[in-house]
Amino acid sequence: GALPLDLFAAIKSLKQELNAVILAHYYQEPDIQDIADFIGDSLQLAKAAANTNADVIVFAGVHFMAETAKILNPDKMVLLPDLSAGCSLADSCPPKEFAAFKAAHPDHLVVSYINCSAEIKAMSDIICTSSNAVKIVQQIPENVPIIFAPDRNLGRYVMEQTGRHLVLWQGSCIVHETFSEKKIVQLKIAHPEAEAIAHPECEPPVLRHASFIGSTAALLKYCQESQTQEFIVATEPGIIHQMQKAAPQKHFIPAPPINNCNCNECPFMRLNTLEKLYLAMKNCAPEITMSEEIRLAALRPIQRMLEMSV
Ligand code: 13P
Ligand code: SF4
Repeated sequence: GALPLDLFAAIKSLKQELNAVILAHYYQEPDIQDIADFIGDSLQLAKAAANTNADVIVFAGVHFMAETAKILNPDKMVLLPDLSAGCSLADSCPPKEFAAFKAAHPDHLVVSYINCSAEIKAMSDIICTSSNAVKIVQQIPENVPIIFAPDRNLGRYVMEQTGRHLVLWQGSCIVHETFSEKKIVQLKIAHPEAEAIAHPECEPPVLRHASFIGSTAALLKYCQESQTQEFIVATEPGIIHQMQKAAPQKHFIPAPPINNCNCNECPFMRLNTLEKLYLAMKNCAPEITMSEEIRLAALRPIQRMLEMSV
């Protein structure tokens, strides 16, 4: 059928009808951020999902995030506007290969970044996000060897910050590996007052130019609180919508990708649209489902994270 003319109004009325909550990640398109009940980084979204009273969770983000919400809320319906909204980082860690990697490193504790599938979570001891990874590794006794998966860039960053050795799974994110160091340096020369800030999924040459490194929520907070008026932002540019709202007088320059494309936008995050969000709520589909066995095994390391990051 035809779409309603006012999608915002139609989504709002469906929200009441379903007693739904809309959770959105900072990389969603601005319209979706504006209609969401809650916007956050991965940790904040997991916490919001753990604490909601709604009957239906509409997750405007990627699959592993909606899956985390379902793991925490088996009795609620969790909708993802486009089921093919995956994540290159999660895909870079297939369960079979990871099981063999784990078996090759017995006695190691497995700390996995939340950007992974429920199957990988089920093989992990503790989950972390970019906002608590350092804190979580620091709480693990020095004599315990650790596997860190799947992001090698975040893993390397955690190694630097903690002085701990981690056995790294060699995964990465296509978006955060696309930034051009050369273009960032050129921008810094053209904007001498600007500060470069970056997400820890970026590669070392980009991180070296950043005066602040953090999760999306940490980057947003830093821009708000810093005296600096101009920033070069090395993460998915969706976050700039909130930076601009929080500090309208400041100037935010998205860090450019190597090629002249818009490949600094996450192609998976951007699969969600306002239209698909509306249709998901109208049809109560696509819905996230998983076996109870996997869910329970994946829940344990998520709960451990939540306990360790209060
Ligand atoms: P944050 O937890 O920092 O929001 O990161 C999520 C993500 O997918 C980064 O690419
Ligand atoms: Fe995954 Fe990268 Fe997209 Fe984040 S930006 S969801 S890590 S592909």
